[in-house]
Amino acid sequence: MKTFTLPGTELAVPNVILGLMRIQDKSDEEVRTLVRTARDAGITFLDHAAVYGASAHGCERRFAEALQLTPTEREQVVIQSKAGIVTDGPYFDFSYEHIVESVHESLTALGTDYLDILLLHRPDALVEPEEVARAFDALASAGKVRAFGVSNHTPGQIDLLRRFVEQPLVVNQLQLSITHAPMIAQGVAANMQGSGQSVVRDGGIVDYCRLHDITIQAWSPFQAGFFDGPFLGSDRYPELNAVVDRLSAKYAVPAEAIAVAWITRHPARMQVVLGTTTPSRVAAAAQGSDLPLTRAEWYELFRAAGYLLP
Ligand SMILES: NC(=O)c1ccc[n+]([C@@H]2O[C@H](COP(=O)([O-])OP(=O)(O)OC[C@H]3O[C@@H](n4cnc5c(N)ncnc54)[C@H](OP(=O)(O)O)[C@@H]3O)[C@@H](O)[C@H]2O)c1
Repeated sequence: MKTFTLPGTELAVPNVILGLMRIQDKSDEEVRTLVRTARDAGITFLDHAAVYGASAHGCERRFAEALQLTPTEREQVVIQSKAGIVTDGPYFDFSYEHIVESVHESLTALGTDYLDILLLHRPDALVEPEEVARAFDALASAGKVRAFGVSNHTPGQIDLLRRFVEQPLVVNQLQLSITHAPMIAQGVAANMQGSGQSVVRDGGIVDYCRLHDITIQAWSPFQAGFFDGPFLGSDRYPELNAVVDRLSAKYAVPAEAIAVAWITRHPARMQVVLGTTTPSRVAAAAQGSDLPLTRAEWYELFRAAGYLLP
């Protein structure tokens, strides 16, 4: 497992993360086996959110009930969670009260005293950055959150926060897979009149994150689009799957490893957030952590997914 020091922190982190969004209905034993398999593969970084589960903090609670981490075991993992989405209204909430309360609820649900990293989950149109700064200061000075970041944010939204927030914003978690790669595809098609791919919808977020030492975490690395099923083995992507299968045979790794390697091969040094609840798929995906696809192979996968190479 490839590891690095997360810029802006002293955390040694793997470039593959276990996401726990889908564990609500899993038994204690299933959750334990999933996490143990990840740990055995070197995945020491766990991604949660207040909103994951049948009700608020449901997956965080499920995780804690199943794992019952000792203080020593707690220190051996990086636990990241998110605040800012309230499904039963007001929907997005970056107020001081919500952020602080959500973190307290996450800590209770997770059975821990601190979060290693807190992310603001999705942009709040009504954000008041001074309030976010006040919430982050309160959480940091109380030792409840050690580092901060965002998710699904544009450069402008991050700049607005950075004007007031004292702590470095170290992560931006964004949707990225071979078949859902607008953040990368737009730059490849720059300046192409008539190509929808050249339209920049996210303000050039990859370059922005690289310039500001913000680590991109790629969520839904196997989903074709927005929660519409995986592209691996899908008859919607015959050309892509043919390339994946050929590379999987060449490197003697499962197909999941090729999907992960397409992201880890990017020099922005991204982390891949796995969402599978199947232990064998976690082990398979982990094999893509340090698999050096060639430039030609990386572009071949990109083109086979349907993107334009001008
Ligand atoms: N920041 C955000 O806004 C945001 C949004 C969504 C997710 N996330 C984070 O990202 C993580 C990953 O998201 P995700 O679950 O949508 O991503 P994913 O890893 O792309 O998808 C996993 C889902 O695909 C299924 N699947 C079917 N075939 C698969 C295969 N061959 N390999 C891998 N999975 C296969 C899995 O089923 P099985 O479980 O049955 O294997 C699971 O339901 C979440 O856990 C969460 O931590 C963040």
